[in-house]
Amino acid sequence: MDAQLYINGTWLEAPENFDVLNPANGEKVGSAANGGRTETNQAIKAAHEAFPKWAAKTAEERAGYLKKLQQLMLEHKDELGELVTKEMGKPLAEAKGEVMYAASFLEWYAEEARRVYGDLIPSNSKDKRFMVMKQPVGVVGAITPWNFPLAMVTRKIAPALAAGCTAVLKPAEDTPLSAIRFAELCAEAEVPNGVINIVTGEAAEIGGAFMEHEAVKKVTFTGSTEVGKLLMKQASEHVKKLSLELGGHAPIIVLDDADIEQAVDGAIASKFRNAGQTCVCGNRIYVQERIYEDFVEKFTERASQLKVGDGLEGDADLGPLINKDGFEKVDRHVQDALKQGAALKTGGSGFEQDGGYFYEPTVLADINHDMVIMEEETFGPVAPIQKVKTDEEAIELANDSRYGLAAYFFTDNLKRGMKVAEALEFGIVGWNDGRPSAAQAPFGGMKESGLDREGGHEGIEAFLETKYVSVGL
Ligand code: SIN
Repeated sequence: MDAQLYINGTWLEAPENFDVLNPANGEKVGSAANGGRTETNQAIKAAHEAFPKWAAKTAEERAGYLKKLQQLMLEHKDELGELVTKEMGKPLAEAKGEVMYAASFLEWYAEEARRVYGDLIPSNSKDKRFMVMKQPVGVVGAITPWNFPLAMVTRKIAPALAAGCTAVLKPAEDTPLSAIRFAELCAEAEVPNGVINIVTGEAAEIGGAFMEHEAVKKVTFTGSTEVGKLLMKQASEHVKKLSLELGGHAPIIVLDDADIEQAVDGAIASKFRNAGQTCVCGNRIYVQERIYEDFVEKFTERASQLKVGDGLEGDADLGPLINKDGFEKVDRHVQDALKQGAALKTGGSGFEQDGGYFYEPTVLADINHDMVIMEEETFGPVAPIQKVKTDEEAIELANDSRYGLAAYFFTDNLKRGMKVAEALEFGIVGWNDGRPSAAQAPFGGMKESGLDREGGHEGIEAFLETKYVSVGL
């Protein structure tokens, strides 16, 4: 794969390239062009020029391109899955699942493009008519993370294009190759020149150009809360619209009437997906005292059966952590908890192998809220479990966080469940469900976890302006 930027339908070289390494073994997977401000401004110009024609297309026409892209993605599922595993590390089966997830956003927003409705409002005067129309915001700057190199691209680009916006995409520096392959598929689907542009390179340069350029009307970002806050400050200059999908610190509550097997399944799925490297992974588990011992035992047994290894080697359930920094953070959380009296049930250490950083699935019991792991996002395969007495205590501890992205709870009691669902201060709640993410549903957080939603019909709203027109008769 050549190291090139995709601007205005043309492949362009940058003055420098950078290597993309496989996190499982440090081997070079490919290289990407190191685009900077000049190239980003070029891409913004192309998107700006392409915007009027793209916005003027019918919803059916725009949907047609998205459907074609979805088809191509499905046709290339195996090859794309392998690329995701090579540059990100998640096991191949999970990577192919990500390809399907990515394609589902193309399908959903091809359909949603045709459902961008306005309003006719009864007016306050006999000789006036009030109408509300929805129009695309304009050029979008999209910044995507490394943990889902393909799905976060389509979760942003599909609704933007469906709404009639054009876009410049900046994929994560660790994982730019899946996005470049996506650009090739866009070219194959004959998406018109300039509608989607891809600039790989340094975040500060490319993101800086997005924030400074007046033509970029909206920036959509997935990443850390710290960077999200910086973007909010920078956005004030031009009052740019922002969608932010930031950090999380998901609680999992297991109430004493829960179906234990279902709770263990759900907690394992939530905790160990992508080796714990998703914003919605359970980061802390609260279990009611009557079933605490039983849950800890069953959960530990399941966690200890998970295999860690190179994601391309058939039977690995967990791949490597993305890099040494990620590994060190996970280990710091584990060591702090152990120093403060946590009981190690399984795992508890990691290893470096051929330049890849792996961490064993780890279960810690007898946890309390003074431990760092109960406050900071771990982004790794560690499950700290705390015993709680009442529903109220569980809810209070769950809400005791600056984050509000995802939360999970397990109970078979409808009344109890409704109260918990309503009390949790989180944008996504899985009730007896460890995997709530879906293209049809709104994804996003409260508090310091972000602004706006992606997915669902809310996901396209984020790329639309509301215009009110009062007509005098
Ligand atoms: C994320 O970690 O940001 C995405 C996870 C998901 O879509 O389920």
